[in-house]
Amino acid sequence: MLKNYKILTVTHKKTNTEDIADFIVPTDDKAELASRLAAIKASCGLEELMYLATCNRVLFLFSGKIQLDSPFIRFFFQSVNPKLAQGSVDYISENVQSFEGSKAIHHLYEIAASVDSMVVGEREIFRQLREAYEECRSYGLLGDNIRIAMQATVEVAKEVYAKTRIGEKSVSVVSLAFRKLQETEVPASARFLIVGAGKTNRLFSKFMLQHKYQNVVVFNRSIGNAELIADRLGAEARMLSELENYEGDFDVMVVCTASVEPIITQELYEKLTRKVAKKRIVIDLSLPNNISGEVVENFDFQYIDIEKLRQLAKENMAFRMGEVKKARQLIVKRVEGFKMRFRQRQIERAMSDVPTQIKAIKSHALEQVFKNELDKLDPEARELLDRMMDYMEKRCIGIPMMAVKDAYRKLHQGSKPKTQIPKSKSQK
Ligand SMILES: NC(=O)c1ccc[n+]([C@@H]2O[C@H](COP(=O)([O-])OP(=O)(O)OC[C@H]3O[C@@H](n4cnc5c(N)ncnc54)[C@H](OP(=O)(O)O)[C@@H]3O)[C@@H](O)[C@H]2O)c1
Repeated sequence: MLKNYKILTVTHKKTNTEDIADFIVPTDDKAELASRLAAIKASCGLEELMYLATCNRVLFLFSGKIQLDSPFIRFFFQSVNPKLAQGSVDYISENVQSFEGSKAIHHLYEIAASVDSMVVGEREIFRQLREAYEECRSYGLLGDNIRIAMQATVEVAKEVYAKTRIGEKSVSVVSLAFRKLQETEVPASARFLIVGAGKTNRLFSKFMLQHKYQNVVVFNRSIGNAELIADRLGAEARMLSELENYEGDFDVMVVCTASVEPIITQELYEKLTRKVAKKRIVIDLSLPNNISGEVVENFDFQYIDIEKLRQLAKENMAFRMGEVKKARQLIVKRVEGFKMRFRQRQIERAMSDVPTQIKAIKSHALEQVFKNELDKLDPEARELLDRMMDYMEKRCIGIPMMAVKDAYRKLHQGSKPKTQIPKSKSQK
């Protein structure tokens, strides 16, 4: 039954990243994860179980005849994480959202189409959802119900990405910065100075790697983090304190640290450029800015700064949000379609043993009911009868399934039923 689909989820909408961690199966080991999920499935009486954990979402999609009430949800999450605040019903009910039946399918579609994401339109969640499915399938946790739900989910997400512009126009400041840099057509041989080696510059360096910039020196307060980026790019890592004595000049400088004071002062900038004028690009992704106002004012370079990028990111996000309405309309329609698909699948499943039953009836007739009469037939008559019986068996097997499909087609599309006995090869 459709209502056997259930979702229990904790997301950025209800809580923060640290609290989400309490609802995750606490292990990094795949084999252990598989056996823990199998244990949860068994102890909670579930037929199928799929698990997805990202940094801002944990989701359990399952099918089963259980009642999705408060005692069950409590028992469920204490099975997921036995260290979870014991007996704290409030804690769970404040954080966990539950969905059942077509609402669960609707939620699944919204996740895959990134309508429910922290950053609307980011397709990463679609990839993560498909990976979670494949992983749980490989653990032997899934069956036909989740298979058809996920098959439909993939189709819906593809349709939303194709028919709306929800995933267009970047909303990441870092990728916007990189795009601006590319517009300048800076050559791959350009000398880059990267100042700061936190999350932001690490992300920036990923884009650099894709575009094969290799003439790079990374400066950072601690050498370990500088080396992380430098190793990735095949670059040189240096302490930030060495920057003032650096004599290699640069074409592009990317600055991003959490310092609240400007790092690139007028004096330092003069030293770095040795007052030699040339076309340079300076990118400052820090908040507050790490390039001092004086430098921006007094020197001539192409400046890419975070404020303009943030404004652009905001406009792009507003554009994506405008596409959400279209995505939701598609999703609602598709949920209705799934209800019919699910019913049809139920009948297909029920019909799946029709061929076996027909074969059994035939054998019973030949070997028991009419055995004595058949034994009296001459070989030619017997051979003819066997051929007729085989023919009848083949022709009869497809009839019930086609009749059901036609009835559905008629019911939902108003078309005439097309049921007819399929032609055998010899008749065609
Ligand atoms: N994360 C984003 O999506 C994002 C986007 C746009 C802008 N920003 C801005 O980018 C800046 C850094 O963010 P993040 O996420 O990269 O931070 P992060 O991962 O915490 O890294 C901070 C970086 O700044 C360095 N640092 C911290 N204090 C410093 C100081 N007083 N002097 C010199 N270096 C210092 C750290 O050096 P160590 O390695 O030695 O600790 C590290 O390289 C912030 O201003 C933030 O507002 C972040």
